[in-house]
Amino acid sequence: MSFRTNTAIDYVEDVSPGTGALPPRAWYASSDAASLSLNGDWRFRLSGTADAEDDSFAEPGYDAGDWAEVSVPGHWVLQGHGAPIYTNHLYPFPVDPPRVPTENPTGDHLRVFDLPSDWPSDGGAVLRFDGVESCARLWLNGTDLGEFKGSRLPHEFAVGHLLKPSGNVLAVRVHQWSAGSYLEDQDQWWLPGIFRDVTLLHRPAGAVLDFFVHASYDHVSGEGTLKVDSDVDGRVTVPALDIDVATGEPVTVVVEPWTAETPKLYDGVLVTEGERVPLRIGFRTVVLEDGRIKVNGKAVLFKGVNRHEWHPEKGRALDLETMRADVLLMKRHNINAVRTSHYPPHPAFLDLCDEYGLWVIDECDLETHGFTEQAWRDNPVDDDRWTPALLDRAARMVERDKNHPSVVLWSLGNEAGTGRGLTAMAEWIHGRDASRLVHYEGDINCRDTDVYSRMYASHAEVEQIGRGLDGGTLKRRELPFILCEYAHAMGNGPGGLADYQRLFESYERLQGGFVWEWIDHGIKDERYGYAYGGDFGEELHDGNFVCDGLVFPDRTPSPGLAEFKKVIEPVAFTGDGSDGTVRVTNRQDFADLSAFAFEWSYQVDGETVESGSLSVPTLTPGESADVKLPEPPADNRGGEAQWTVRAVLAADTPWGPKDHPVAWGQFPVTARVSPSVAATAGPVAGERVITLGPASFDARTGALRTIGGVEVNDLRLDVWRAPTDNDDGASWQDDICYSLLWRKFGLHRMRHRLDAVELGDDALTVRTRVAPAAWEVGLATVYRWTSDGDRVKLTVSVAPEGDWSALPLPRLGIRFGLDAGADLVRWFGGGPGEAYPDTKAASMLGRWESTVDGLQTPYVRPQENGARADVRWAEIGGLRIEGDPEFFFGARRWTTEQLDSAEHRTDLTPGERVWVSLDHGQHGIGTASCGPGPLPQYHLRAEPAEFSFVFSEIS
Ligand code: GAL
Repeated sequence: MSFRTNTAIDYVEDVSPGTGALPPRAWYASSDAASLSLNGDWRFRLSGTADAEDDSFAEPGYDAGDWAEVSVPGHWVLQGHGAPIYTNHLYPFPVDPPRVPTENPTGDHLRVFDLPSDWPSDGGAVLRFDGVESCARLWLNGTDLGEFKGSRLPHEFAVGHLLKPSGNVLAVRVHQWSAGSYLEDQDQWWLPGIFRDVTLLHRPAGAVLDFFVHASYDHVSGEGTLKVDSDVDGRVTVPALDIDVATGEPVTVVVEPWTAETPKLYDGVLVTEGERVPLRIGFRTVVLEDGRIKVNGKAVLFKGVNRHEWHPEKGRALDLETMRADVLLMKRHNINAVRTSHYPPHPAFLDLCDEYGLWVIDECDLETHGFTEQAWRDNPVDDDRWTPALLDRAARMVERDKNHPSVVLWSLGNEAGTGRGLTAMAEWIHGRDASRLVHYEGDINCRDTDVYSRMYASHAEVEQIGRGLDGGTLKRRELPFILCEYAHAMGNGPGGLADYQRLFESYERLQGGFVWEWIDHGIKDERYGYAYGGDFGEELHDGNFVCDGLVFPDRTPSPGLAEFKKVIEPVAFTGDGSDGTVRVTNRQDFADLSAFAFEWSYQVDGETVESGSLSVPTLTPGESADVKLPEPPADNRGGEAQWTVRAVLAADTPWGPKDHPVAWGQFPVTARVSPSVAATAGPVAGERVITLGPASFDARTGALRTIGGVEVNDLRLDVWRAPTDNDDGASWQDDICYSLLWRKFGLHRMRHRLDAVELGDDALTVRTRVAPAAWEVGLATVYRWTSDGDRVKLTVSVAPEGDWSALPLPRLGIRFGLDAGADLVRWFGGGPGEAYPDTKAASMLGRWESTVDGLQTPYVRPQENGARADVRWAEIGGLRIEGDPEFFFGARRWTTEQLDSAEHRTDLTPGERVWVSLDHGQHGIGTASCGPGPLPQYHLRAEPAEFSFVFSEIS
């Protein structure tokens, strides 16, 4: 005989979406119906299983005085109860759908509330939950209202008949694991709790129920057609358009259309007998036409990001200001699109997208990625028993968000394989909303989708697709292409952005992409600064794979965001400037250039000698013009001269202040004169030291000791860098995990054999061989020192020995130590931020200044960072260093080895030296942490090389 111990919790493992909730509908804030936020401190009790406690806590009069308290919205695991778990795609419980573990953390939440004294006594009331992970059962005043799943979707319950003026007891039991968890296997922290708002809404008699704003735009006539379908009849007014029509009745008038570049919204009101609801109407038409996604008749190019909701202390419980911060940061970095990976965001985020202008792919709360481990057997999306739950999720997304002009595509979900359930979702969405397109990446044959979408395809493959040479089903070949994820922004990187953008702009079929992802999901943590997977003792986890954003957990932009901003800028400056003109191109899809002002400046050796404004015609989208630069200033002081042109905001906009920079270009005028040092001084051998001009060396080893009064230690060839996340690569593509190869061949443990110290008439020459134990590969390295008496020049020659053909170098340069007092750094070269061979677009040639600490990029997991590219000269710690040719400059208060072994920023403590790196080359960055490695042209090959540095003491 077998029996289930407690059938009262059967709902937890039931594949159905739940019971008791009202049908989904549009999300809106009423102008006049009362509402009561139930956010705030709630009583809280955590138990270890779904049925450890009975439901007596839901009864009025229950004394929860000894319970803890949690904030709602919030996740209990971020408030001292239990711990978060991070897995990428593995389910952190046995895969046996729909069963979940007996150990099922369950949080009982209790809130007693009074109605405001002016709460109307007529009509009904609805209790709305905007997000609860992963399954909730609820009671009001002891009455069981039902239960629901679908964590990032709203659920409403009719409660008017249960309300009392005071002492209402709302009890919510939240289970961390449920059948719904199988549908929510997104790559993120598992964070149970009531993490979005809880609101009580008064529903007057005759109130608005659900409504659908249809607002299309005819780009030929310039007219918009508005029709508001409403479950409850009423009237719609839009004063600015003189519109006053009945619901359900179309009206056509001349309008300004809505686009992400020109987010024109018209304020309107929907009035029914019992309620007024404000409308923000954007007129736009989205179609699939000629194999392109067109809005208002034009193909759009998505310059997008994937956005998870994240706050380093609050998890996915975001406040409005945090959401606004995201939107403003995106707009200020030229981003025009967001995929709400991988669930509908808090609805207020979409209001902000409407208002500030971002194209949105709204994605359903669905991912079943863990089934890939069993060849997708038992995948819920291909099992009819789950289809009602899938359709419920689709409906809850579409109904909630259908009135947002920013939403242009619906996405069925992410990484859920394929199956009948997905097809059913697509069919339902197409039927319910013909005004938008449907996206889903996993549908390789595009059976259910209107766009061919992929993630992490290589540049070469994207080019094939752009050229239409990729094959596939006939349907797929006729569809436009987007990369719904690319450029994995984990740690240092992503590399190769500019190369992708060039492809997007070269082939019409390619309609852009969405960088993975917006923000690092680091959790603020006293021990580590920011914690990542494994830091909470999880038995299964995916480490720092959860930190792969363009902004750090506190939303500080990373260098990757600066690079992306540059690569996607709305104005391009091309040409070479040498003929006195620069070609200006409007790279926008809809707007002319009237929002921008243009400036020129002329620099000599990085210092601006003259500047002024540039007059640029208001070019239509896609149009270019050759714009004449002024006469170059007469005096270029014999230095390296260049033009810099910039586009800035001409006036304050809702998202950025006047003068906010949006685009720039630089054009060399005169070339750099390389430093030269006449070898007029010769080395002089003393008992222990050799002197050469201002420098002294160890007589036995030839090692540099001082330059003037500056002590220098351990100057030597350096090929090792603390591997980046992209060097480490992803476990499933070992062939491009360069750090594996580098460690195998011992590039992190190179030994330096001294072969000769030679004193010539005009040079000190030190011959060495730099090589790892166990292998025949080596680098014959010669350091040749010369001096003109004031300055000393080092020429390093490197000749590879053995077979290096499959082994690129991490870096090639020298490193040395300086006294820890070295702090201020000045340089002429690329800046202000870090740059590597394939992340260099945003590196602007100029004069820059920083401190040693300021040079460090705070990647959540420490790794190579902070190099400044194309440096002509740098000054640090009393030394001036000039390069021939230009070099990568870096300095830090710990060694590369310490950086390499650190797991968190808190592992790095300043030592007694400042370690300076002067690199002739760096290996590219790529995005192999989840995507292709660096393109071949960015590989640092072990080839014969020679490079020089001229050192002098700053007087
Ligand atoms: C994708 C997935 C994302 C994320 C990314 C890697 O496959 O859709 O959710 O896991 O890879 O960071």
